[in-house]
Amino acid sequence: ASTAATSVSIAGDIGSQLHGGYHHPLARSWQAERQLTKSMLIYPLFISDIEDDETLIPSLPGQHRRGVNKLVPFLEPLVRKGLRSVILFGVPLKPGTKDALGTAADDPMGPVIQTIRLLRQRFPQLFIVVDVCLCEYTSHGHCGILRDDGTLNNQLSVDRISDVAMAYAQAGAHCVAPSDMNDGRIRAIKLKLIEEGIAHKTLLMSYAAKFSGCLYGPFRDAAGSAPSFGDRRCYQLPPGGRGLARRAIVRDIGEGADIIMVKPASQYLDIISDAKEIGRDLPVAAYHVSGEFAMVHAAAKAGVFDLRTMAFEVTEGILRAGATIVISYFTPDFLDWLDE
Ligand code: PBG
Ligand code: ZN
Repeated sequence: ASTAATSVSIAGDIGSQLHGGYHHPLARSWQAERQLTKSMLIYPLFISDIEDDETLIPSLPGQHRRGVNKLVPFLEPLVRKGLRSVILFGVPLKPGTKDALGTAADDPMGPVIQTIRLLRQRFPQLFIVVDVCLCEYTSHGHCGILRDDGTLNNQLSVDRISDVAMAYAQAGAHCVAPSDMNDGRIRAIKLKLIEEGIAHKTLLMSYAAKFSGCLYGPFRDAAGSAPSFGDRRCYQLPPGGRGLARRAIVRDIGEGADIIMVKPASQYLDIISDAKEIGRDLPVAAYHVSGEFAMVHAAAKAGVFDLRTMAFEVTEGILRAGATIVISYFTPDFLDWLDE
């Protein structure tokens, strides 16, 4: 009897010993289901229509808006360090460019289409994602075409946004990523891609669970895309809307999305985990947005924590929740940090 008692208590002691499993740095890395690697990262680029522009965005630390002429020299060292993918946002600054229909969004001489062509030619290995929305190009700053009462006209918006997505895909974008949140746009884009015979070589990434809130402020400074009246709460999801997010994810998978995105990331880790569960069979992306990035920088500057340690901690949290693709303004830093 005493022998049995001893072995039970030893078994209990053995089960309590965890430290041996993560004493060594390599063993610590083995504890993660997924390691952050360079190929998981997509870097956002703001492209202005002023060719020689290179302007620091004050609310987005270290990030610039660049004209087409400044892109190649900026990207060359990053590509050499292992940058695999960028997401493009057009920023029309020239006066008179914006109108009620966002006509400039698919201007063949506009900054986005010019940049797609340039990057395909200069960096053949770089995967080009293009954000598809109208808010940067509309005079009212909303993500679609409006009715007289100021609400979105869903049908007109979807028609227009799917045309814009087509123009980017035809110019050579590997991936189009509609961020507008109009109902039915994934299906409309997929159908047009099929019709044009380019669905097989164009990835459709849906901003499926995109929440409204105050974390896009620095982005809107960078892109000049703040709405001139009202807000986006009638099309971006309410922060408490977990069920609505799940429905949007199910819907967009059904409409033909190849990748599901959740945005913002750190405040919505449960949604990332839901997306992974619902979208078991497709990759899940998370967008660590401008406000999240600015918050990390502000706190590090205030001495709350070390910037690099927090950049890893937040990104590893996003991976742990279920994402395997992260859109991050920290990408250039990670290209260095992951080599050290
Ligand atoms: C455009 C768009 C936005 C972001 C990505 N695409 C802004 C918005 O919806 O207001 C935000 C990205 C960021 O904050 O980094 N619809
Ligand atoms: Zn928009």
